Amino acid sequence: MDVIIRGTADEAVELTAAIIADAINAKPEFTLGLATGKTMEQVYAKLADLNKAGKVDFSRVSTFNLDEYIGLAPEDKNSYRYYMNYHLFSRVNIDMKNTHLPDGMAKDEVAEGERYEKAIAAAGGIDLQLLGIGCDGHIGFNEPLSSLTSLTGAKVLTPNTLEVNGVYFNPPSSMPKRAFTMGVGTIMAARRTVMLITGKVKAEIAKKAIEGPVSAMVTASALQYHQNAVVILDEAAASLLEMKDYCRMLWENDPKWKKFHR
Ligand code: GLP
Repeated sequence: MDVIIRGTADEAVELTAAIIADAINAKPEFTLGLATGKTMEQVYAKLADLNKAGKVDFSRVSTFNLDEYIGLAPEDKNSYRYYMNYHLFSRVNIDMKNTHLPDGMAKDEVAEGERYEKAIAAAGGIDLQLLGIGCDGHIGFNEPLSSLTSLTGAKVLTPNTLEVNGVYFNPPSSMPKRAFTMGVGTIMAARRTVMLITGKVKAEIAKKAIEGPVSAMVTASALQYHQNAVVILDEAAASLLEMKDYCRMLWENDPKWKKFHR
């Protein structure tokens, strides 16, 4: 796992967007896995800027989001479909019919999980999966105790997630208690994963995910088994890492990161 530390959240965001743009430029018919949450808003703003400046083209890109709340329709302001349309899809030259999220209104939940897996496979698999991390270590909505080989399906959210994400709902208690999510196995099947972690509030969970034992209690730790995973952190999120000095050496000395040096 390549762990890259940048000074500020802005620099971490900029590097994340640059990696995505570079990957799309190398393979224009690209299948991109997307994430939601506050952290990603800046990444999408940056990608929209790059698109506007003609530095990345989304016209042949297909996207698959990690997750969607069960019971929320696309037009609901709290749905991840609404979030994606607002923060990214309406701001870049993507063909909306190539944008995919699980259907939060699907009646048959098992069939919806299978449909999503098939759609990912039909698109040739995910080339790069963008990831954030929840304060409880979740990737997508793979809460603690999730199987580390799971595929897309419905998940019950933890009290911690209900508390953290509940602030976006009015009242917070109206937040759905369940969501569809790609499984950890789905995420692990992506050819490449890029995780972005910023802010002091994530320092403890970042340490557990990156340096702790691989455990279903912190599903992000499964990425330690991924062959092409990078985690990008700002100094605040990296503050508790034991391997900080080595991470800095890696950024300075691994030739593959040279082209991203500014
Ligand atoms: C939600 C999403 C996750 C995301 C997390 C972090 O729970 N399901 O995919 O990683 O939010 O969000 P934030 O960036 O707001 O901390």
